[in-house]
Amino acid sequence: MTFSKNHSLLLLFSMAMLLLQCQGPQDANESMETKATPTLTSQSYGKTPDGQEVAEFTLRNTAGMELKVITYGGIITSWTAPDKDGKYENIVLGYDNLEQYIASNPYFGAIIGRYGNRIAKGQFSLNGENFQLETNDGPNHLHGGVKGFDKVVWNGQGETNENAAILTLTYTSADGEGGYPGTMEIAVVYKLDNDNQLIVSYQATSDKTTIVNLTQHSYFNLSGDFSQTILDHELSIDADKFLPVDETLIPTGELTDVSGTPFDFRSPKAIGKEVEAEDEQLVRGKGYDHCWALNNPGSFRKVATVVHPTSGRQLEIATDEPGIQFYGGNFLDGTLPMPGGGTYAYRTGFCLETQHYPDSPNQPDFPSVVLEPGQKYTSKTSFKFSTKTN
Ligand code: GLA
Repeated sequence: MTFSKNHSLLLLFSMAMLLLQCQGPQDANESMETKATPTLTSQSYGKTPDGQEVAEFTLRNTAGMELKVITYGGIITSWTAPDKDGKYENIVLGYDNLEQYIASNPYFGAIIGRYGNRIAKGQFSLNGENFQLETNDGPNHLHGGVKGFDKVVWNGQGETNENAAILTLTYTSADGEGGYPGTMEIAVVYKLDNDNQLIVSYQATSDKTTIVNLTQHSYFNLSGDFSQTILDHELSIDADKFLPVDETLIPTGELTDVSGTPFDFRSPKAIGKEVEAEDEQLVRGKGYDHCWALNNPGSFRKVATVVHPTSGRQLEIATDEPGIQFYGGNFLDGTLPMPGGGTYAYRTGFCLETQHYPDSPNQPDFPSVVLEPGQKYTSKTSFKFSTKTN
């Protein structure tokens, strides 16, 4: 009897120890979780036809947002954001592989340069010297020309800290590339922080007087379902004026008051609400494809918000740029392949490209896009995701 009593005590003691041991690793897991940090990994994404290696970087924050970027064009190929139930889904249009990006890309996710948007007839002059850029959009130059920054292979360097995963992309553009003067050194930094915010910072220098206007060309569809149009998304843009365009989408030089026009997005409005209104500017753009002159220029401030009411996803954009090009996917025409089958239909993605105004080199009254040797061009835009339910 005595023996078995001692035995039971021993058994109890051992069980208690076992329980304690089980507790140990669980605590360790918990502390690992609280100490989770953002991650950044890379892998091969194939080669360009001329043999250049392309890498794919995956940035992940501690909230669960994931961004995939390839070094070809600095393209954001996928970007997940949470809906009102916390479900993360890809919210940017893209393709399945490098071959498709090379074959025909309407600038999905890409870095745009040296000049975002159009320059009339591809012509401008600096200090009395005339320059002729490539014309690749009817009579005009668009988004850097035939081989803009969206079609070159960037050098990628990743790092992480406890608050963010950071990818730095660099590229040297040769003197005369695309017709632009000056050797240009460019760095674009994608910083994904734990608040579901991507901060895109641009830097450039040149050894000759030149022009520069960089931007990011992601096509968003916050529903996460790319077979749906973006017409139900509610957009607001903090701008009292927009830039009307001519028949070839070059700004006329005027800044027009948005009051009483379909271009008034000062209060949230569904993109589709007035897109079919009888309006000469909408006819020219085949919908919205215009630059808005943002309020409070010269400061980094929130300039646009988009809410997708059904999913509750909200995107807020802040920038130090004077303008934003709002393009409603009017050239998507059901010919480009969608991952998982089908094609991208009309108005299934929208772009909000923060930038200086189109054709600034030919418009003396627009903010200057001239970069002198010894100067540093900088620009910053943030894309912050959250949810909003009415
Ligand atoms: C920009 C332009 C549009 C179109 C798209 C890409 O937003 O303003 O006209 O070129 O890029 O198709």
